[in-house]
Amino acid sequence: MSKINIHQIREQFPILKCTVYGKPLAYFDNAATTHKPDRVVRKIKEVYESMNSNIHRGVHYLSNQATMAYEQARNKVQIFINAAHSHEVIFTSGATGAINLLANSFADTYLSEGDEIIISHMEHHSNIVPWQMVCKRKKALLKVIPINSHGELLLDEFEKLLSTKTKLVAVTYVSNTLGTVNPIEEIIEKTHANNSLMMVDASQAVQHLKVDVKTMDTDFLVFSGHKIYGPTGTGVLYGKEKLLNEMEPWQGGGEMIKNVSFEQTTYNELPFKFEAGTPNIAGSIALGEAIDFVSELGIENIAEYEDELLNYATEQFLQIPGMRIFGTASKKASVISFLVNDIHPFDMGTLLDKMGLAVRTGHHCTQPIIDYFGIPGTLRASIAVYNTKEEIDRLVAGITKVAQMFG
Ligand SMILES: Cc1ncc(COP(=O)(O)O)c(C=O)c1O
Repeated sequence: MSKINIHQIREQFPILKCTVYGKPLAYFDNAATTHKPDRVVRKIKEVYESMNSNIHRGVHYLSNQATMAYEQARNKVQIFINAAHSHEVIFTSGATGAINLLANSFADTYLSEGDEIIISHMEHHSNIVPWQMVCKRKKALLKVIPINSHGELLLDEFEKLLSTKTKLVAVTYVSNTLGTVNPIEEIIEKTHANNSLMMVDASQAVQHLKVDVKTMDTDFLVFSGHKIYGPTGTGVLYGKEKLLNEMEPWQGGGEMIKNVSFEQTTYNELPFKFEAGTPNIAGSIALGEAIDFVSELGIENIAEYEDELLNYATEQFLQIPGMRIFGTASKKASVISFLVNDIHPFDMGTLLDKMGLAVRTGHHCTQPIIDYFGIPGTLRASIAVYNTKEEIDRLVAGITKVAQMFG
């Protein structure tokens, strides 16, 4: 029996009470962004009302208050992902911001002409395009781990791609489109055995399962704050201290400097070296609050409850005639990508919306996956801790009704 008290959880999300087109909202677009508990929303208000100030540079009271709260949020992230030091946690604008920062800093420090970077066929565009850009700039090569029709990585093929030229392997832990949970520890082990570095995109992992950077021994890890019940415009780049110290900063200005003269600039220490300009102070502090929300519920309890919902939803979906689920890996997190007969995902998504059922449609920023399956896109129902079996029943009834309308 799940330890989640769903009533108490839902009470904390006022938006779940809203209606759309006169119907109660059932929100299944959590892989795109989750809703925020009221304690996160209140924290943003509290920051602007009681400690609004710039951080790290003021000697006055408010600046000290804001600095302390910001650094406390960093400590919360450190503990949440089990990093060795809080200065290994860099606040960014999101996973995309974190990957762009890493890609550019990494390329400037470690990447030379002819070197190789490995990603996978199931990456989000945010973990494809920045690597393409730096590979083009550095005349390096981007290689891609293929997938099978279940949406699983072909690890034998991965091993064949590894070589002395491989500088970095950057792979998602959980696919935002297929729900696949990749065997990330095995991938990291193989990467390190090849003397290459590893980056894990944990954007769809931190909110669903335990992520421990020490146990998995990854060199870098990124995630977005807004997918783990935190504010938009927040995110994290984790990196091992030694590597972050070695790397050149990507963006310049603000607190990332130690000394500036027109002849020469020296950089600040970690983590400030990578946080140029005034950051999203209130957002990162509120991300700390979101992490408290998740930690208090217990990520294991969340995982157990969401697994129950995912299994229930999958069983119910498969009862619908003409249902095709894309992503049938043996280990999945709470995402179901699907099509029914030849109904276009936009058509079905629009009709579901009219019933108060919010799902995602399209390529989900993973166009190579959609091309692999040769389809126009999918509908995607993604589950968060505040979803219920009753909502899933409504979704199943809605999909069935739309399918019947299309005959
Ligand atoms: C696996 C994965 N990586 C990266 C991103 C990019 O996140 P953001 O848009 O918050 O930067 C997403 C967002 O959907 C994602 O699912």
